[in-house]
Amino acid sequence: MKEEIKLSANDINLFFGNKQILKNVSIEFQKNQVTSLIGPSGCGKSTLLRSFNRMHDLVNDVKIEGIFKLDDINLYDKACSVTEIRKRIGMVFQKPNPLPKSIYDNMAYALNIHKFPKNEIPDMIESALRESFLWDEVKDELKKPATKLSGGQQQRLCIARTVVLRPEVILMDEPCSALDPISTRKIEDLIVKLKEDYTIIIVTHNMQQAQRISDKVAFMYLGELIEFDSCDTIFNHPKMELTQNYIGGHFG
Ligand SMILES: Nc1ncnc2c1ncn2[C@@H]1O[C@H](COP(=O)(O)OP(=O)(O)O)[C@@H](O)[C@H]1O
Ligand SMILES: [Mg+2]
Repeated sequence: MKEEIKLSANDINLFFGNKQILKNVSIEFQKNQVTSLIGPSGCGKSTLLRSFNRMHDLVNDVKIEGIFKLDDINLYDKACSVTEIRKRIGMVFQKPNPLPKSIYDNMAYALNIHKFPKNEIPDMIESALRESFLWDEVKDELKKPATKLSGGQQQRLCIARTVVLRPEVILMDEPCSALDPISTRKIEDLIVKLKEDYTIIIVTHNMQQAQRISDKVAFMYLGELIEFDSCDTIFNHPKMELTQNYIGGHFG
């Protein structure tokens, strides 16, 4: 299969105040692949992920150098609308964060903001819930408050409400860390299926998970991208000693 770059960061230096968080990070994400970002806590994984979604826009005292691109679009171009970027690049967080509304209204919320035709909304919601392996569990209770769902169901709902906008990229920041093993497995199966249609970047602390779901793996340490390669290379014959030590559980 021809590899096509969907998303990229080129020579990123990011500072919060005078503390440098990302150092000369360059990385390219292939279309229809799952890439995992791994590395010890505080090494900048979330900061990098959030940059693609312009999540630092409202942070005081942030300085970002370098170029982030979706296809050929510079994500930090003044002409780029953040709302449009977040429609094309969706994000799922560590803690499921449904709105205090019904299951249906959680799904409809962003569709209304983006002014999708009213008559298409019910079908869009059904297919996104099916795609997220949630439909069968909720189809008879769409008016129920989303907060009454189990944690795993809430997280699948959060994925469904991202998917319903038909994004091109889905960013996930430790989406399973608050979930039990069965829900985790469901989300992993879902991620592997979703990559047929989307490009997925996931931060995970779970090395088994990274091995189960990733095409590529990026290992970060103290704000630098140390090694970026196929899942097999990173886990079975990494080139850098630091990667080997991290994978081997010697730190982090
Ligand atoms: N909004 C912020 N303001 C200041 N420092 C921050 C902010 N967000 C994250 N940091 C710092 O940036 C560093 C990297 O954090 P983060 O990207 O969350 O790491 P990771 O996801 O790899 O655990 C940490 O030292 C963290 O304290
Ligand atoms: Mg993080």
